[in-house]
Amino acid sequence: MPKPIHYAVFPVAGKGTRFLPATKASPKEMLPVVDKPLIQYAVEEALAAGATNLVFITGRHKRAIEDHFDSDTELEQLLVEKGKSDELATVRSIVPENVTCIYIRQGAPLGLGHAVLCARSVVGDHPFFVHLADDLIDASVPCLEQMRQLHEETGGSVLGVQRVPRDQTDQYGVVDGVPVDEHVWRLKGIVEKPAPDHAPSSLAVVGRYILEPEIFDCLADLGEGAGGEIQLTDGIARLLADGEVRALQFDGIRFDCGSKLGYLEATVHFGLKHEEYGGQFSDYLRNVIGPDPADRSR
Ligand code: G1P
Repeated sequence: MPKPIHYAVFPVAGKGTRFLPATKASPKEMLPVVDKPLIQYAVEEALAAGATNLVFITGRHKRAIEDHFDSDTELEQLLVEKGKSDELATVRSIVPENVTCIYIRQGAPLGLGHAVLCARSVVGDHPFFVHLADDLIDASVPCLEQMRQLHEETGGSVLGVQRVPRDQTDQYGVVDGVPVDEHVWRLKGIVEKPAPDHAPSSLAVVGRYILEPEIFDCLADLGEGAGGEIQLTDGIARLLADGEVRALQFDGIRFDCGSKLGYLEATVHFGLKHEEYGGQFSDYLRNVIGPDPADRSR
């Protein structure tokens, strides 16, 4: 029986250059989609999959993330005085009481593999989630929970994958696998950002991982990979030598919130689903876009 997963690692030290100028002085993970920052969606997904230790790998200019998950007694007192009980409940529920937040500084921007290695002293000998907050996924069963269920059955490491257009393989870690079940592959290989002609498939890793602790040894003496960085993908390729890794094509919609277009799409998607404003927002969009082309031709 595989060990249960209590640790979730959030690499949040990246600069977010694709989103300048918004990310010049504030973390990209704090960009809100409707009314919640990306990192809160990330944390909620990990909590829904059973994580109780949240390990943030942070860097310079990322203090806002720590503040967001810390309690703010002054703000709470103000909300009490003003009788704003809904808002009070909202800020108090950001982190449940049984959950611990741990912050580790990644001293230098050496890559995702290095960021994950920074979590070693905390995670130790346990399997753990890695969640990239840029990749926002809406799913009826949260993506990490779908992956946890597979891990519970099979053990080993699990990667969340999605099919991407061939001409985009150079933006992702791409897997080479043998199908073993519906939507599940056993990995034979994995390559970071292959050119379309060299990609082993069109199944791309989209920011969700369950990793067995052996990954730390695989990362420990890894040299630079694609883009001159220490790549998590290269560590996973090493893990394959004596560990099992599966890829799960999860059920859900994924938005690349590290890109401006993906972020706009996420905003529309979650805006339309918003309990209070979804209806009005839908009316607004209909007005802005006008009647659909079929109506226009009449
Ligand atoms: C990282 C990983 C890559 C993965 C991607 C998902 O790349 O290195 O393997 O497919 O996240 O978003 P990045 O987007 O940080 O360049």
